[in-house]
Amino acid sequence: MKHDERIAPVPGDYNLKDYEEAYRTFSWEEAEKVFSWSETGKVNMAYECIDRHCEGPRKNKVALYYSDPSGRDEKYTFYELKRLSNKFGNVLRKFGVKKGDRVFVFLPRSPELYVSVLGTIKIGAIVGPLFEAFMEGAVRDRLADSEAVALVTNPQLLPRVPIKELPALKHIILVGAGDALPQGDGVGFYDYHKEMAAASEELEIEWVDREDGLILHYTSGSTGKPKGVLHVHNAMIQHYWTAKWVLDLKDDDIYWCTADPGWVTGTSYGIFGPWLNGATCVVRGGRFNPDDWYATIEKYGVTVWYSAPTAFRMLMAAGDDVVKKYNLSTLRHILSVGEPLNPEVVRWGLKVFGKRIHDTWWMTETGAMLIVNFPCMDIKPGSMGKPFPGIQAAIIDDNGNELPPYRMGHLAIRVGWPSMMRKIWNNDAKYREYFRIPGWYVSGDSAYRDEDGYFWFQGRVDDVINTSGERVGPFEVESCLVEHPAVAEAGVIGKPDPVRGEIIKAFVALRAGYEPSEELKQDIIRFVKERLAAHAAPREIEFRDKLPKTRSGKIMRRVLKAWELGLPTGDLSTMED
Ligand code: PRX
Repeated sequence: MKHDERIAPVPGDYNLKDYEEAYRTFSWEEAEKVFSWSETGKVNMAYECIDRHCEGPRKNKVALYYSDPSGRDEKYTFYELKRLSNKFGNVLRKFGVKKGDRVFVFLPRSPELYVSVLGTIKIGAIVGPLFEAFMEGAVRDRLADSEAVALVTNPQLLPRVPIKELPALKHIILVGAGDALPQGDGVGFYDYHKEMAAASEELEIEWVDREDGLILHYTSGSTGKPKGVLHVHNAMIQHYWTAKWVLDLKDDDIYWCTADPGWVTGTSYGIFGPWLNGATCVVRGGRFNPDDWYATIEKYGVTVWYSAPTAFRMLMAAGDDVVKKYNLSTLRHILSVGEPLNPEVVRWGLKVFGKRIHDTWWMTETGAMLIVNFPCMDIKPGSMGKPFPGIQAAIIDDNGNELPPYRMGHLAIRVGWPSMMRKIWNNDAKYREYFRIPGWYVSGDSAYRDEDGYFWFQGRVDDVINTSGERVGPFEVESCLVEHPAVAEAGVIGKPDPVRGEIIKAFVALRAGYEPSEELKQDIIRFVKERLAAHAAPREIEFRDKLPKTRSGKIMRRVLKAWELGLPTGDLSTMED
């Protein structure tokens, strides 16, 4: 299993010059001294991202370029974002929203989304970004669990918010409501633009403790409802240094992170990391489309581009002729996250962009990058890279013993990095599960390390599905499936897929009186799409008379997976007759 293929770095003036040296000498205690608050303890992420730059030469630098297929085409300087986020902070304060309250933002990618996130953070409230594709069930679970008091959304998405089931929700701010504000349900409705126009540009920032709540990202596990992963302001230390050294951001860069802020990549590296470094960010609205994406790089002269394997695979599938239509010569640094980056894709990137694609590994729970490929080091295609300085990564067995090179085990991190999640909302037991092996954070991924210290991803230890870089919990999909009148039982697995990494496949046993049919399949798929989210709906359904279950009634997903892959089913001693 020797990995001999290496792609050497292109010599350049990178922010990080020597990885080995940095790994030996780096300490988080030193690293945090770039922030003056490291002495006082009082801090605010939004101030560090935006306002701080307005006190120096970046005041009138463009912080955000936004455009979308509908024709919006705008730009905002750091100073403009400061004023707008101040206004939004004042809007929330007027409604009585205060430090520690949860404010959710359920909007498509747009300047209003970014202003809302920053303004919420400025008053010390905890922001919860919601992906725009979420349907009613997913929206309800997240707002109910977090007891959000305020929501920013738009009239198109509002019907997916079950207000009557959300007693804590008091204020709904609608972007583009015009004069037709809804009423009733014990909730105040407001028009974003009117409130913003009336609000003052001056705001007393809420200075919080570094351990105070910043952002709540819901993510999926193999059991139960989605988990609210809480991050705190202290995470900025790691956002800053990883964006500086891994994204290699410099003052003249034009940076594009393609992730939506509904996912952690879209906040840690679509907001915090780049803006802490004073970088110019590009945000493109609308859906993925190869021409649109290449045109975006050309339009803005994007230099640093952070995306995901599924997107690269779809671009690859669109063909090299599409690439040739555009001038992509500004690109100097490309990175990837979210799922395994195939060596084939890395080789394709070299061919068409003339650039290496740098893989990075991390999770919602880790808050920031942990294992990465730096521009100054050799890439081994197929490997996630090496631990960021200050991060101790290891492969351990169930008892916490570190395993030698090439032995597969739990990918684990020594506890105590700045951006680590601080709790799972309302679920301490779940939180503690990550730390069940003393001294370690257990990621749930399996991997091995090679003799040069590179880490190689092997898969998830649990049943969590990674489809197009999005984490989907099988239990959540199964729970939704069994709500369909025809479905008696359902088991959901990830089926390997060349473009999406995995697709969701459901095995379904029907209730008496229902017959399998193509029509019923489509109806069940639509049902999940409308309740949960399009990306969480099965792409394949297989009807079975019975599903394999343990004696205690749990669906045995590993047996379903074995069926699917044509593999031996293994130990069936716990299976019911
Ligand atoms: O299984 C790993 C996979 O995505 C999981 C984390 O998903 P999420 O919390 O949604 O965060 C994604 C973006 C930070 C991991 O447990 N994953 C993430 N990056 C990689 C990866 N798998 C292989 N290679 C990666 N570079």
